[in-house]
Amino acid sequence: MAKHCIGLDIGSSSIKAVQLKKKRGALEVCAFGLEPLAPQTIVDGTIMDQTAVVEAIRSLWRRLKLRQKDVAIAIAGHSVIIKKINVPRMNGDELAEQIPREAEHHIPFSREDVEIDYEVVLEQNAGGQMELILVAAKKEVVADYTQVVRDASLNPVVVDVAAFSTQNGFEINYELGAEETVVLINVGAAISNINIIRGTQSLFTRDVTIGGNLFTEEIQKQLNMSHDEAEAYKTGGGADEQGVVPGAVEQVMNSVADSMAGEFQRSLDFFLATSADTNVSRICLSGGTAKSMALHRAIENHSRIPVEVIDAWRQVSVSPKLDGDYLAAHAPEALVGVGLAMRAANDK
Ligand SMILES: Nc1ncnc2c1ncn2[C@@H]1O[C@H](COP(=O)(O)OP(=O)(O)OP(=O)(O)O)[C@@H](O)[C@H]1O
Ligand SMILES: [Mg+2]
Repeated sequence: MAKHCIGLDIGSSSIKAVQLKKKRGALEVCAFGLEPLAPQTIVDGTIMDQTAVVEAIRSLWRRLKLRQKDVAIAIAGHSVIIKKINVPRMNGDELAEQIPREAEHHIPFSREDVEIDYEVVLEQNAGGQMELILVAAKKEVVADYTQVVRDASLNPVVVDVAAFSTQNGFEINYELGAEETVVLINVGAAISNINIIRGTQSLFTRDVTIGGNLFTEEIQKQLNMSHDEAEAYKTGGGADEQGVVPGAVEQVMNSVADSMAGEFQRSLDFFLATSADTNVSRICLSGGTAKSMALHRAIENHSRIPVEVIDAWRQVSVSPKLDGDYLAAHAPEALVGVGLAMRAANDK
């Protein structure tokens, strides 16, 4: 089997690296780390400060003493379009030839500006057609992300889409019944990746530009604090000696959580209205913002569906040389990196 890539998750608040290996048939994490990025380094999925990202990757590789250079990265946000399409049945070569033409009907970008990829999800549906997932990603964004990786002297051998990396990370850790539908939401700092899956199939994906920054910004604005103070309060570090977070902070958190949950609910309602799927059993959150209890409660209130936080290490053993507490503390935000670390250089 081809060797796993290192999963390199370039997020707007931090860069994460995950290295997994197979040990006696089971997965073991042998390296994990996270390197923070300053707030304006990546904005809306666009890398504003290449040098800062390259430096962060280099320093992470130094700190984790990584020597492997093949990495898998993910992109997300406005620059990626994912569509389910049906086409007449055809063989692999015909598909490869047809897809660029087919994509023009479904993708609102010009053909020269996007990289196109696809995956067959069903060889033949009830109507006799093939079902595909079509992915189009803006070339300039893929180029920007792969360039910072190369500038850090690494090889970007796989470019994935964050919503699918989230799903891959989830699948190695949790068993799903074939008829069970779950909503995966990876809530980062700036972007949330939604992927509704049944069994191993992705039914619906959407990226929305909301994330944990909204909490920080509102606390800052409404309570007149600096960014760092607001961030500390949000993550529970700003509490007083008795561990009490001011009521005013909690109020702001609850109101932001409520509007975020409302936004997620709109996507869920859209899915439910178009799919007739009534088996959604739970909503599984990942990403750093999944640690917000206010968000957890708000999503449960809006959806009336149980919410749980994904543990990216649930079925992954931890190498004895790593700090288990550190890994556990970052279990939700490691998920995209774990999904990426499952990829091998030559897989699709
Ligand atoms: N305990 C906590 N409670 C609430 N929020 C938290 C907590 N810990 C971390 N966060 C928030 O999680 C976010 C970081 O999560 P994550 O690492 O998944 O984002 P990212 O990948 O850097 O961003 P994105 O993918 O959106 O560009 C930050 O907004 C951070 O403040
Ligand atoms: Mg992220």
